[in-house]
Amino acid sequence: MSTTAKPAQTVLITGATAGIGRATALHLARAGYHVIATGRRAAELDKLRAETPAGARLDTALLDVTSLASIAAAVVEVDRLTGGRGLDALVNNAGYGLVGPLTEIADADLRKQYDTNVFGVMAVTRAFVPRMRDRGRGRIVNVSSMGGKMTFPFMGAYNSTKYAVESLSDALRYELRAFGIDVVLIEPGAIHTNFAETSMAPVSEYANTVYGAAIARSETLQKRMMSTAVGPQVVARAIHKAISRRRPAARYVAPWYGSFVFALLAVIPTRATDALFRRIGYLTPSALRKPEQLTAAASASARG
Ligand SMILES: NC(=O)c1ccc[n+]([C@@H]2O[C@H](COP(=O)([O-])OP(=O)(O)OC[C@H]3O[C@@H](n4cnc5c(N)ncnc54)[C@H](OP(=O)(O)O)[C@@H]3O)[C@@H](O)[C@H]2O)c1
Repeated sequence: MSTTAKPAQTVLITGATAGIGRATALHLARAGYHVIATGRRAAELDKLRAETPAGARLDTALLDVTSLASIAAAVVEVDRLTGGRGLDALVNNAGYGLVGPLTEIADADLRKQYDTNVFGVMAVTRAFVPRMRDRGRGRIVNVSSMGGKMTFPFMGAYNSTKYAVESLSDALRYELRAFGIDVVLIEPGAIHTNFAETSMAPVSEYANTVYGAAIARSETLQKRMMSTAVGPQVVARAIHKAISRRRPAARYVAPWYGSFVFALLAVIPTRATDALFRRIGYLTPSALRKPEQLTAAASASARG
């Protein structure tokens, strides 16, 4: 009987400097995986390494998912860390939310949102798939969102990136299965991380638009949603399941009871949910400024 221990499975996580990625890195390292935690901020990666429990294996590497040079350097580092074997699993987690009215969001901001949440996922996936294909096995876990199947007021930019991740993941699942590679989606609901703060940061930019009053009040909506939030460990456990199950589901909602919302939305007519979202997003005629009101306000402030 062979006494050789099975090597630990190697998992790379993007966006491990905060929130869900960080919690997942620590969770998987504790569970015995060889974790390669990646991110843009070296100091945060150092802190993460320092927090790794004794006996667990957690390496770090710099990786900005919007930079092809950074991705290429990470591939070289992974080859070095795994002796050329490559990854058993890739967790595409890095991402952020851009909040704002779609007609007012700057084109550059919209492109940056897609560069990170969509093109970043694809570029990182393309970089690590070849080694998995060579070995005839691997798993790709894409962190989408419940907002990858439903759209909230002022979150169309962000939600649309997650709709894209859902569709791309479905196609990747068809295209990679014959090579022994499985693709799994994680759909978190409201989770306590830096996400809400980052996504709400630019809303003051829209104060002088027709949506000014409505978007200011949308902070209340955000707070209401976050009052139902759970900790990032809930998502870390779902990612663990997605990596460890022999036959994983195509999607895991985290927390699981979020699937009731999808079930409910499936039977409510779209016109009815539209009305609900307009109301909770303060997108009613009384909450929106008319363009002439904006002109009057601008000339009043110009007169001093
Ligand atoms: N929190 C929620 O309620 C929620 C709900 C549904 C889905 N999600 C999804 O969960 C994922 C993780 O978000 P989170 O909630 O953990 O938010 P978070 O606490 O803000 O963490 C986001 C992580 O993504 C990283 N990141 C952003 N842009 C990057 C880039 N270009 N390259 C590499 N890393 C980058 C951040 O790095 P820096 O530290 O350098 O900024 C950070 O590590 C995202 O895909 C998000 O869309 C979150």
